[in-house]
Amino acid sequence: MNRVAIVTGASAGIGAAAARSLHEHDFTVYAVARRLDRMAPLAALGVRTAAVDVTDDAAVIALVDRVVLECGRVDVLVNNAGYGSFGALEDVPLVEARRQFEVNVFGAARLCQLVLPQMRVRGGGRIINVSSVGARLYQPLGGWYHSTKYALEGLSDCLRVEVAPLGVDVVLIQPGGIATEFPQVAGELLLAVSGGGAYAGPARRYAAALSAEPDHISPPEVVATAILRAATVRRPRTRYAVGRGAKAAVFARWLLPDRLFDRVVVALFAALGRIAERRLRSAARTGAAEPGA
Ligand SMILES: NC(=O)c1ccc[n+]([C@@H]2O[C@H](COP(=O)([O-])OP(=O)(O)OC[C@H]3O[C@@H](n4cnc5c(N)ncnc54)[C@H](OP(=O)(O)O)[C@@H]3O)[C@@H](O)[C@H]2O)c1
Repeated sequence: MNRVAIVTGASAGIGAAAARSLHEHDFTVYAVARRLDRMAPLAALGVRTAAVDVTDDAAVIALVDRVVLECGRVDVLVNNAGYGSFGALEDVPLVEARRQFEVNVFGAARLCQLVLPQMRVRGGGRIINVSSVGARLYQPLGGWYHSTKYALEGLSDCLRVEVAPLGVDVVLIQPGGIATEFPQVAGELLLAVSGGGAYAGPARRYAAALSAEPDHISPPEVVATAILRAATVRRPRTRYAVGRGAKAAVFARWLLPDRLFDRVVVALFAALGRIAERRLRSAARTGAAEPGA
C-alpha cells in the first residue's frame, strides 16, 4: 500500500512541487490550500486536492478525518503553508502579526496535534515543517515573519524529542531564496504597511529587491527534493538547509558573533537596496525611451 502524505500550501511554489514529487514517488498525496482551482494540475495527475485554510479548525479536522477514513493513516505531514508579512515593527498592526502566527505556526501546530494520535498508536510517522533560513537569520523590517519561523523551529525541536520515543520523526526544512509567489506577496504586504511612513525608504527598496528577477534564487523543485528525501530516508537529518546560499548563510550565522553578523545583515540589506534602486532607475529610463523608440 502506498504511503500517505498531506501537503499544505500546495496551490503554489514549494508545496505544489513537493506534492508533485511525492506523488511521482508513489505516495498517496492530499494537497491542500485555499485556492482549489490552482491545484487543478495536481488533481489531473491523481493528487487528491481540497480547499483548506489552515487557520480554519473545522476544515483541518475534516481533512485529517477524511484521510484517515480513506487511507487508514497519515505517514507524512508536510506543514508548508505560510507567507511573509514584512514591515517595520512600529507599523505592522498586531492583528496582522497574529494572523501570520495563525498560519505559519498555529496552523502547523494544529495539524501536528491532529495527525499525532494515529502516528503514536502506529508507532511511526514523519512531520516535516517548512521553516526558513530566516529562522537562523534576521533583517530589518522582518520582525514578525522571522519570529514565526524562529517559533516554528522551537516548536519542532521540542516536538522532535517529545515524539522520538514514539517512533515519529520531526524534520525542519530551511529554504533560502526560492522562486515562488512568496516574494511578491511579501513585497506587497511590506509596501502596504511601511511604504508611506518613517520607514518608507528602506521599505520601498526592499520591496523592489523582493520583486527582483529570480535569476539568483533557486527553483521550488530544489526544496521539493529535500522534502522527498526527508520523507523517505531511513533516518532523516533534523534540518535541511536548501536553495542557493542557504548553507552558507546558516554557517555564517553559526560562525559570527551577533555584532559582526549585524554588520553583515546591514551591509547585505543596503546592497539589496542599491541593486533595487539601480533596477528601478534603469526601468524608468527604458520606460521613458519606449514612446520614442
Ligand atoms: N520562497 C522563499 O524564498 C521561501 C524561503 C524560505 C521559506 N519559505 C517558506 O516556504 C513555504 C512555502 O512558501 P512558497 O515560497 O512556496 O510561497 P508561495 O508560492 O506563496 O506558496 C504559499 C502557499 O501557502 C498557502 N497558504 C497561505 N496561507 C494559507 C492558509 N491560511 N491556509 C492554507 N494555505 C495557505 C498558499 O495557498 P493559498 O493562497 O491558495 O491558500 C500557497 O499554496 C512557506 O512556509 C514559506 O515561509 C519560502
